[in-house]
Amino acid sequence: MKYFLDSAIIKEVRYAYENWAIDGVTTNPRHIMTSGKPFLAVLDELGSEFKGVENFPISVEINPHLDDAKEMVVVGTEIAKLSSNFVIKIPCTEPGLIAAREFEKEGIPTNVTLVFSPSQALQAARIKASFVSPFVGWKENSGDDTTQYIQDIANIYKTYKFETEIIVAALRNGKQIVDAAKAGAHIVTCGFDVYKESFHHAFTDYGLDKFRNAWDNTITEAPVLK
Ligand code: E4P
Repeated sequence: MKYFLDSAIIKEVRYAYENWAIDGVTTNPRHIMTSGKPFLAVLDELGSEFKGVENFPISVEINPHLDDAKEMVVVGTEIAKLSSNFVIKIPCTEPGLIAAREFEKEGIPTNVTLVFSPSQALQAARIKASFVSPFVGWKENSGDDTTQYIQDIANIYKTYKFETEIIVAALRNGKQIVDAAKAGAHIVTCGFDVYKESFHHAFTDYGLDKFRNAWDNTITEAPVLK
């Protein structure tokens, strides 16, 4: 399963690419705002950073105020020209799905986002979106079962051999990452701290402490190994 970083902060993206082997990046208007930089400056940074890196999708969301498919296509086409890594992220509304279909016909990859039901994910796949982003964290906060939700999408895609890749999004902890993997997601996208915490376990620290203690009380003949 692929790991995308959900961030528009170049320092985080660079670190995660160099050290964690992340496979792509997803951004949204909130991430761009958090970066404290102008929209185009962030796009320029991300585009330049991965220039020449193949198969490294960077999702860039269009202006969320747009609600006309034609306008979405005009704006998204301009964004797509900025980097061959850019994937146009579009909300799962009716005009959004119409626009996504147009983009895909033109060879511009899309990520249909803000997906909260299998019926939305089904239409995203039917119009051949490259990626679909069902959100988990937001749904769980409202008490919905998300394991079944992701499994349903994965099963439908498998049954009909859809090629759209499922990016399970808005994950808050390691358990949700594993649940997405068990459900058959292709990709997860998480914030920097969520990944960092998912690599950690208190028992690893506990065990390391024990082993360090043992090491310090062992006679080692070769000082170079100390
Ligand atoms: C995914 O593509 C979204 O950008 C993201 O996961 C949104 O959720 P969050 O910002 O609440 O984490």
